[in-house]
Amino acid sequence: MTKIHKKADVLLGLQWGDEGKGKIVDVLTPKYDIIARFQGGPNAGHTLEFDNKKIILHTIPSGIFHESAINIIGNGVVIDPVIFNKEIESLEISKEVLRKSLYISKKAHLILPSHRLLDAVYEKSKGDKKIGSTLKGIGPAYTDKIARLGLRAGCIKQKDFKEKYEALKHVHLRIADSFNIDDDIRIEGKRFEEYEKLWFESLKLLEKMPLIDSEIFVNKSLKDGLSLLAEGAQGTLLDIDFGSYPFVTSSNTITAGACTGLGIAPSMTGEVLGIFKAYCTRVGSGPFPTELFDETGDKLRTQGNEFGSTTGRPRRCGWLDLTALKYAIMLNGVTKLIMTKADVLNDFDEIKVCTHYKLKNQKIDHFPFEADNKDLTPVYKTLKGWKKPLEDIKTFGQAPKPLKDFVKYVEAFVETPVWLISTGPDRKQIITQ
Ligand code: GDP
Ligand code: IMO
Ligand code: MG
Repeated sequence: MTKIHKKADVLLGLQWGDEGKGKIVDVLTPKYDIIARFQGGPNAGHTLEFDNKKIILHTIPSGIFHESAINIIGNGVVIDPVIFNKEIESLEISKEVLRKSLYISKKAHLILPSHRLLDAVYEKSKGDKKIGSTLKGIGPAYTDKIARLGLRAGCIKQKDFKEKYEALKHVHLRIADSFNIDDDIRIEGKRFEEYEKLWFESLKLLEKMPLIDSEIFVNKSLKDGLSLLAEGAQGTLLDIDFGSYPFVTSSNTITAGACTGLGIAPSMTGEVLGIFKAYCTRVGSGPFPTELFDETGDKLRTQGNEFGSTTGRPRRCGWLDLTALKYAIMLNGVTKLIMTKADVLNDFDEIKVCTHYKLKNQKIDHFPFEADNKDLTPVYKTLKGWKKPLEDIKTFGQAPKPLKDFVKYVEAFVETPVWLISTGPDRKQIITQ
């Protein structure tokens, strides 16, 4: 009998992260059998709100609150057992239930305490050129993966695990020493030795979770006709290859990352759902052509509650950059767009969108290599604000005309349809076509 072979859909951020991926994955989970995170680690903070509860997930896929779905942490993810443990405890889901609904790839790499130490040392050594990393050890953990030195989740049960751990830790400590940084570096407020102790205690939980060959599970599931949504972390403009390097994260955040981060062949990907905010934010350093330093920027931050889910840092805010969005859509092959945080603009008379840049009288209509060039100025198109609350609007047809016009303008500019519009942090606040 021929089976119905399903393709994997991919959902990812098109800006600098925090587009609302967590919320949208939670909204879409009832349509899927499997939700699988494909890259990043605890640098991510994905917020879900329902039944007056607010939950922030870091490593665990955002489908975890729907009993019908299997959640997978893919091989492309990096895991800090301490953060993972804390996250599990905060879910208030029994371990028995979790072991049936949360699987982890044996090939996912571990973030060691000494990776976190190195992250802090590298950032301190950069002074005012720092990346603005979340300091979760992401860069050093991925560095070791590529250098073929890393430890993976599947190694925990091996006899020589402790030996390998010690060897790698000593390499890290020697590197850290060579930077001669005298500061007393703390990890999550703890001294290195204290964190290391907690790390080993936390491994016990990880060890008891189903550690699987997730690429085989994923492909078999698709072959059996199950539906899968791959959940991205960060955003396209933080991609290691195409983001504003070096102010990026250390993984491929684009659709291609879902292939390598889960073991899905490119020919097996289906819809690509790209999420963008109706404006732009960025947390950490690096170029941001449409950043606003005035009261409009402050208003976006206050109305949008733009403070980091992982670090609490205020997010930099600015107008929607359509040139950057078009670039992100191209890199990901986005088939459907999802616009979030439309409600944040409810109170604006005028809304601007950047259509291109100017560099010394020259028109630049693509996201440039030198996006940090101080002479690069965004050129805006001004659109009318809708000046209406959106809470009772459930379909696009009911939307106020200026919102419809805004969406139509974006769709025409980026040549991609907008499928959903999010109008608040709660699961129920969504406009469909
Ligand atoms: P993620 O990293 O992409 O999952 O996004 P974050 O969770 O870091 O940041 C998005 C923030 O906006 C969270 O606080 C969400 O609860 C919130 N949020 C998501 N969608 C909307 C929306 O449509 N409107 C408003 N006002 N907030 C939203
Ligand atoms: P989610 O999945 C926003 C940013 C950091 C820093 C740079 C490198 O919630 O959208 P790293 O810790 O990876 O070394 O930091 O990337 N960054 C994020 N910004 N959302 C995220 O994830 C981010 N993850 C990393 O602020 O500028
Ligand atoms: Mg986030």
